[in-house]
Amino acid sequence: MDPKNQPKGVNRRKFLQTGSMLAASALILPLGTQQIFGSEKFNSLLASIPNTILNNGVEMPMLGFGTNTLRGEIGVKSVSQAISVGYRLIDTAHIYGNEESVGEGMKQSGIKREELFVTSKLWVDDAGYESTKEAFELSLNKLGTDYLDLYLIHRPRGDVKGSWQAMEELHKEGKIKAIGISNFDPKQIDELMTYAKIKPAVNQIETHVFNQQTEAHKYLNKSDIQMEAWSPFAAGRNGIFTNETIASIGKKYNKVNAQVCLRWLFQE
Ligand SMILES: NC(=O)c1ccc[n+]([C@@H]2O[C@H](COP(=O)([O-])OP(=O)(O)OC[C@H]3O[C@@H](n4cnc5c(N)ncnc54)[C@H](OP(=O)(O)O)[C@@H]3O)[C@@H](O)[C@H]2O)c1
Repeated sequence: MDPKNQPKGVNRRKFLQTGSMLAASALILPLGTQQIFGSEKFNSLLASIPNTILNNGVEMPMLGFGTNTLRGEIGVKSVSQAISVGYRLIDTAHIYGNEESVGEGMKQSGIKREELFVTSKLWVDDAGYESTKEAFELSLNKLGTDYLDLYLIHRPRGDVKGSWQAMEELHKEGKIKAIGISNFDPKQIDELMTYAKIKPAVNQIETHVFNQQTEAHKYLNKSDIQMEAWSPFAAGRNGIFTNETIASIGKKYNKVNAQVCLRWLFQE
């Protein structure tokens, strides 16, 4: 985190360790559900992360651990520790270059594979029918698993149609529980729907208080596609952790800015 964004009197490490507030180094927050967190304590809250039900019946935790910057031994430890404090959704991608570390972290956590919800993403260089199948197998091997809970097309570039057809087949073979997209706008989803036999279960897009995605959210709700937020804390930018408007809301409820931002995402 950029030190200039660090709230006075809040030590980030202590913040996480004391468990008195909801926090994580990186978060993926699925939106568009009626369920709202009820508990106040970090540990009990993580122990009771509610699920949202995707359009194919698959259950997906509403709060997850993003691994974008976590590689090597730090990646292994971060993922293992995130799981040990209660995270079950782990979000990675081929382009993060950390699927091996994420897989090792999952293994070291000692939690059964079927209790985890693992997302990875197909990078643009691998767009196309054959290359998607190859990239998927590579991701599986690196993660040390024989299936993914969610596989997303990372960006709408190249032969999306070929990729989607490959992903539909992998889904039918039972190798992916749910298939989805990321960074698609409504027009791009409409186009995909002209040939898709399976509707995307999720669209993961940048969403936070400074980029609320109101129109996209309406469209996704109407289309029964789960919206999932990436960079729920605006990647620490725009002074999100010290923003006065957010702080004034937090003051009323005795919460720090990060908690207010998460609550807003859940309520949306
Ligand atoms: N699909 C896509 O195209 C896409 C794009 C970007 C990201 N993502 C996914 O979304 C995940 C999260 O996004 P992100 O990492 O870009 O941004 P983010 O979660 O919005 O923000 C991360 C930043 O917030 C800080 N932070 C987190 N919790 C905090 C708290 N409670 N108090 C104070 N500071 C806090 C972190 O500090 P520290 O450095 O101290 O931890 C870090 O600097 C990624 O890991 C990745 O899985 C997907």
